[in-house]
Amino acid sequence: MSATVASTHTTPLSKNKHLLRWVEKMAELTQPDHIHWVDGSEEENELLCDELVKKGTFIRLNEELWPNCYYARSDESDVARVEDRTFICSLSKDAAGPTNNWEDPYVMRRRLKGLFNGCMRGRTMYVLPFSMGPIDSPMSQIGVELTDSAYVVVNMRIMARIGLDVFKIIDQDIKRVVPCMHSVGVPLARGQKDVRWPCNKEKYIVHFPETREIWSFGSGYGGNALLGKKCFALRIASTIARDEGWMAEHMLILGVEDPKGEKTYVAAAFPSACGKTNFAMMIPPRGFEGWKVTCVGDDIAWIKPDANGQLRAINPEAGFFGVAPGTSAKTNPNAMATLARNSIFTNVALTPEGGVWWEGMSDDPPAECLDWRGNKWTPQIAKETGAKAAHPNARFTSPASQCPVIDPDWENPNGVPISAIIFGGRRARTIPLVYQAFNWSGGVYIGATMGSEMTAAAAGTVGKVRRDPMAMLPFCGYHMGDYFRHWIKMQRSLTITPRIFHVNWFRKGEDGKFLWPGYSENMRVLKWIVDRVHGHARANETPIGWTPKYDDIQWKGLDFPREKFEELQKVDRGAWKSEVMDHEELFIELHDHLPPEMIYERELLICRL
Ligand code: OXD
Ligand code: MN
Repeated sequence: MSATVASTHTTPLSKNKHLLRWVEKMAELTQPDHIHWVDGSEEENELLCDELVKKGTFIRLNEELWPNCYYARSDESDVARVEDRTFICSLSKDAAGPTNNWEDPYVMRRRLKGLFNGCMRGRTMYVLPFSMGPIDSPMSQIGVELTDSAYVVVNMRIMARIGLDVFKIIDQDIKRVVPCMHSVGVPLARGQKDVRWPCNKEKYIVHFPETREIWSFGSGYGGNALLGKKCFALRIASTIARDEGWMAEHMLILGVEDPKGEKTYVAAAFPSACGKTNFAMMIPPRGFEGWKVTCVGDDIAWIKPDANGQLRAINPEAGFFGVAPGTSAKTNPNAMATLARNSIFTNVALTPEGGVWWEGMSDDPPAECLDWRGNKWTPQIAKETGAKAAHPNARFTSPASQCPVIDPDWENPNGVPISAIIFGGRRARTIPLVYQAFNWSGGVYIGATMGSEMTAAAAGTVGKVRRDPMAMLPFCGYHMGDYFRHWIKMQRSLTITPRIFHVNWFRKGEDGKFLWPGYSENMRVLKWIVDRVHGHARANETPIGWTPKYDDIQWKGLDFPREKFEELQKVDRGAWKSEVMDHEELFIELHDHLPPEMIYERELLICRL
């Protein structure tokens, strides 16, 4: 790569002997042409972005329309997380459990050694130190990613705290560092020209939970390559959290402030691409004057009991890696404001003015643009061929600090207090708009048996219902049954137990249309949840939990018929009986690790039905 970049960043920026030795060993293995120690500065970022532009990976967007923004198109085969190529290599297969792909760590290490041998030839190896969580937070964790992708470096700069301040922490040698190896897996022969988006057909996203290591080969995209996110902050962190008595969850965190100024924080777990980002930065609708929703995070929460037995949460990330399609000034104006500058867009469409567009961004599409594959796209072509301008999993990478409703405490090193936990899925039938668990273990059962129709965030069949416990199916770094046990056990460290709820914005009527308008109107559900937490709202007992009656919801500003609400909230005993039968599938799979509470809860539910 660039002599300019490499020559100014070759001096190690850390004195930590372990780090220096590891970098040296990994360089011997991967044989990069240069080693670049990432300082995280503005100048360095500019250099890297310029390099990416020169290489054709990045296109700089029109500065007037999209200040300091870049556009990237991935390889067509590298567009989402690859769950079937994701491995948990614990010493025993049983520790990984049946919901993870497992491989013997010795076998996998040998295979990885082969794959990484010489894989960075002709490239630069970036030494990228990062902190998941605010650098000064006792809840933060440190990692170092060695990567041969400058695209990864500039994305990670938005998604995590990186650079010199992190090297300082590493040099103090007080926090364990998680080593993260990443390569796109395309070595270059001398003089060989690089491609726009190098990646390898063979992909491996590998976690060694006992040694806390991550090895990722072959992909440059999202969660496969930005190793602080899913690999570290969920898969590895979930195992650390189990060992240390806290929780690493696939959850957004938001604050709700009522007109009197009382603040309540909630965390919510929805599967990938089910509207976490929209919910996390929602604007209250008409009729909610004086209410405010503020965002702490949109994807991951690290939650820990404090000395008083109150759960407190931090967002380990510093940016949003959000799904672009469907994001608009109508559906999420705060996200639109966040992504308006200093952002990276991947696999959206490029307009002739040097701007970006995606399905759902505006009612009238551009007359012509280049789609995510670089082909000409017009509304007419879309009509004839069904071609999408943006890939359904196209993403924006944007700094969280730019969110107009970022919570004043989003970087509080001690986190924010969590009063409610919300689970949710995308379900056309059976599951009501909202219900509340009777108690903590009932809530754990609800989370554990959560199901959702699959989306484009992962390779797989879109639309099929799959069980996705706590939205952690692809992200739990150990046996799912033990994870449920850990959840059950967590209650013992709490003096104030958060209330647990389940929501479903996606229920459809007989006509196949969504019953609930969603988006801002979800505030009505959120208000009921917050009121329940404070003991201000009534509820109706049903076999599945507590539900609101029509008059328990604030309807001011929305004309929503009582009968439609009743249809939305309906608990159909017949449908629920088959739903509970479906739970059995997961339970059979996990039976030998399932905590007894899950069996009791299931029995109780069956009795109530
Ligand atoms: C994500 C995901 O990218 O869940 O957040 O897939
Ligand atoms: Mn996610």
